[in-house]
Amino acid sequence: MSLTSFPGTNSSPNGAPITKITMPALTDMKRQGKPISALTAYDYATSRLADEAGIDFILVGDSLAMVILGHENTLAVTVDEMIHHTRAVRRAVHRALVVSDMPFGSYNSVAEGLANAVRFVKEAGAEAVKIEGPRIELVHALTEAEIPVVAHLGLTPQSVHRMGGYRVQARTAETVLQLKADAHALADAGAGAIVLEGIPREAAAQITAELPAPTIGIGAGPDCDGQILVFHDLLNLTFAPPAKFVRRYADAGTLIRSAIEHYREDVEHRAFPSDEESYHLPEAVRKALDDMQQAATLRKA
Ligand code: KIV
Repeated sequence: MSLTSFPGTNSSPNGAPITKITMPALTDMKRQGKPISALTAYDYATSRLADEAGIDFILVGDSLAMVILGHENTLAVTVDEMIHHTRAVRRAVHRALVVSDMPFGSYNSVAEGLANAVRFVKEAGAEAVKIEGPRIELVHALTEAEIPVVAHLGLTPQSVHRMGGYRVQARTAETVLQLKADAHALADAGAGAIVLEGIPREAAAQITAELPAPTIGIGAGPDCDGQILVFHDLLNLTFAPPAKFVRRYADAGTLIRSAIEHYREDVEHRAFPSDEESYHLPEAVRKALDDMQQAATLRKA
């Protein structure tokens, strides 16, 4: 495709032009002091709603292992499963940046990480990949290979066994300094944004002030350049008490449960479907069938 025909803008289903959010656009937003809104999503319907609601950055997070597939933690999800969900999200999203999480075990070496990241871009249409931990060499190699990277530091859920559970990280001066050093090294290696999860507000604020790359916080306080939440946490579609940093913006769990109960009751009471919700034969066909029925009854009598 030539430069002149490269679409800098996209169009929505109703034809209105849309300015696509790209990785460099997130850096511009940081420079302009515009907060970045990010949300996870894993399928067509929900990512379309998130995109139409104006979310800037949609993460096909490996949290799908828990909230979609019902696993106890994020470790079980595979590259193939992540690609399957990223494809669905990609089909729905016109404006937001679509980022795919590289799952546990898919980037143990630079070569493996590079090969799997290429799959996310080629097979699923991901516009960036996210990797957990200070994988400096891998971030450098992905950047060299033209694959934008979102890094993820602090409470990294793929390290649940090493951390001994989901615990707030960087609570001592020494660990804050290590975190800052890691964030700088990742940004220097080319990370386009850094997710900061489960760390004290003060540590996140310092990193955010020092880095040119935007920080996206989750449980990291309000001073990050953007915020991300898990879709199911935002809408109460989880089955456990929320973490301290979660704000429930709606109770979709109660809404959906009550709608399904109402439907079941209507079926049980033959209140669904109604005549208006049924298809009907044309009058002439109905009459012809009635006449045939009547003739058959007369013949039998
Ligand atoms: O997988 C995920 O949902 C994430 C977010 C918590 C940042 O990594």
